[in-house]
Order: sequence, then structure tokens, then C-alpha cells
Amino acid sequence: MRVGILYSRVRAEEKLLFEEFRLRGAEFDLLDDRKLIFDISGGMDSTCYDDYDVIVERCIHHGRALVSLRILNDRGIPTVNSVQVADVCGDKLQTTSALTAAGVPSPRTKVAFTAESALEAMEELGFPVVMKPSIGSWGRLLSKINDRESAETVLEHKEVLGTYHHSIFYIQEYIEKPGRDIRAFTVGSETICAIYRDSPHWITNTARGGLASVCPVTPELNDICVRAARAVGGGCVAIDVLEDPERGLLVNEVNYTMEFRNSVQPTGVNIPGRIADFVLQVGREGWAAANS
Ligand SMILES: Nc1ncnc2c1ncn2[C@@H]1O[C@H](COP(=O)(O)OP(=O)(O)OP(=O)(O)O)[C@@H](O)[C@H]1O
Ligand SMILES: [Mg+2]
Repeated sequence: MRVGILYSRVRAEEKLLFEEFRLRGAEFDLLDDRKLIFDISGGMDSTCYDDYDVIVERCIHHGRALVSLRILNDRGIPTVNSVQVADVCGDKLQTTSALTAAGVPSPRTKVAFTAESALEAMEELGFPVVMKPSIGSWGRLLSKINDRESAETVLEHKEVLGTYHHSIFYIQEYIEKPGRDIRAFTVGSETICAIYRDSPHWITNTARGGLASVCPVTPELNDICVRAARAVGGGCVAIDVLEDPERGLLVNEVNYTMEFRNSVQPTGVNIPGRIADFVLQVGREGWAAANS
């Protein structure tokens, strides 16, 4: 079994994964995305990608991940995750649409293309609302908009100072969650563990100071997460879940290149070990079998 690990920088997560592959006696090579060249016209590559039974994607940039996964999957090389999962999860708009299509509860969300229609969408949802870049992470450029006047300001800034992509407005109802959200980890068809992220700030990401503690995986949490993972195409994904006081669990988003360094210790679950096992299973049996 030969594993390729496509990466941007060796962070804590990558080191933990290397260790788990070593423990399993799996040979692996590191593929630095800064040095990659793909010949997409059928010529010879400097790296023989076909030699790999499976390639793990650990890029920092969504664009690089998506392009690499597309090329590798088109050549029949299995990857974790698949290009389909990366495409849907890398874009909040596509994620919400896929969740809705699969009947997975998520916050009410509207999309609009002009400042005027965005304002109308916000009025329909009722303030406060949350506006997010459709493609983005680590809580960057998220805005909680409390009233019409602040909405006008944010929308004008986006239209005047942003790029074209900032004018695809993704607008969501604000969920009055209990000072925390849930980050759950799903591998194949099982939710392996979850953490609460507590924060006095409405953005609870651990990268922004949210405190991690263990969250029990109830049958209800397992069910909604497995359904969310299936809705985006399966694989190893990290799912953000919000607790609505009336409606219960709602899936906020699904992340396809999991960050898990802060979650191993509180949960006591060997997340990188479970990912490594899944990757090796994909290498042996293929993507479809590993996800069934
Ligand atoms: N509609 C909402 N209502 C209440 N809180 C929200 C809402 N949307 C997002 N949040 C809070 O903001 C955090 C970040 O939001 P989200 O996960 O959508 O953004 P992100 O930039 O993609 O973050 P990530 O690094 O997880 O990819 C969530 O974990 C949650 O705490
Ligand atoms: Mg998130």
C-alpha cells in the first residue's frame, strides 16, 4: 500500500497523521503543493501519481485542493476526501443546498446577488442575521448584522471594496445558541467523537479562542451528522452543529480538510488514527466501499 499526502505545510495535524501511518506500517510520500506540476494533457508527470493507492489531501488553500483532487480523481486515483466532497463542502452555498436537498435540518439561509435584494432577504429573515463569504474559513469576514442600518453599511462595503465573489450574498438567520456550538467528527458512516466549543463571542471557533470540551455523541447527534456527511458525499468530515432552543440540532457547515489538534485530548479519541484507518481502507477497497 502506498499513500501520498498532499500538503501545504506540516502542521500538528499532519505530524499526527504521519505517526499513525508509520504505526500501521504504511509507506507514505509527501507531496508539497508548492512544488506540484500536473500534466493535464496526458503527458508525463515528474511525479508518478498513479503509483499511489490513495492520496490524502491536507492543503491549506481550497483552490489548490479542489484542482488537485479533480485531476487525481479524473485519473482514477482515489483521494480522501473525493473532489465531490471538497467541492460541496468548500462552498457554504453548495453545502446548505445539499443539506436541504437531503432533508438535513440547517439554519434558514438565503442567497442574493445585489445589495437591494440582499437587504430584502435580511428583512424576510428578520434581524439579527449572519452574512458569510460563501467560500472561506476560520470565521473570517463573518458578520452578525443586528439592524437595517448596519446591513446597509456592510453591504455597501462589500459592493465597493469586495471582489465579485463578495457580491454573492449568503445570508442566514442568527441562531440563539447557548454560548457554544458543536464540532463533530464523522468518518465513513460513524460519528467518532464531538466537542463543544464554548465562547463568550458569537463566533466560537477554537482558532478564535473557543474552549474545547467533550460533547457526548448521542444517537440524535450521530444521526444528523451521518446524514450531513452522506449529503455532501461521505468521507472524513468535521461538522459544525448549532443547538437551536426550539428546533434542536441544526447543521451549520461541513469541513472537508479536518483540523483536529484541539479535539483529541478532550475526547480521548484517536482522530488521526481513525482517519488513517479510513484512508487505508479507501486504498484497499475504493471510495464507495469505504463509505458504505
Ligand atoms: N447562523 C448562525 N447563528 C449563530 N452562530 C453562527 C451562525 N453561523 C455561524 N455561527 C458561529 O460562527 C462560527 C463560524 O461560522 P462558520 O463555521 O460558518 O464559519 P467558518 O469561517 O467557515 O469557520 P470554520 O473555520 O469552521 O470553517 C460557528 O462555529 C458558530 O459559532
Ligand atoms: Mg465552521
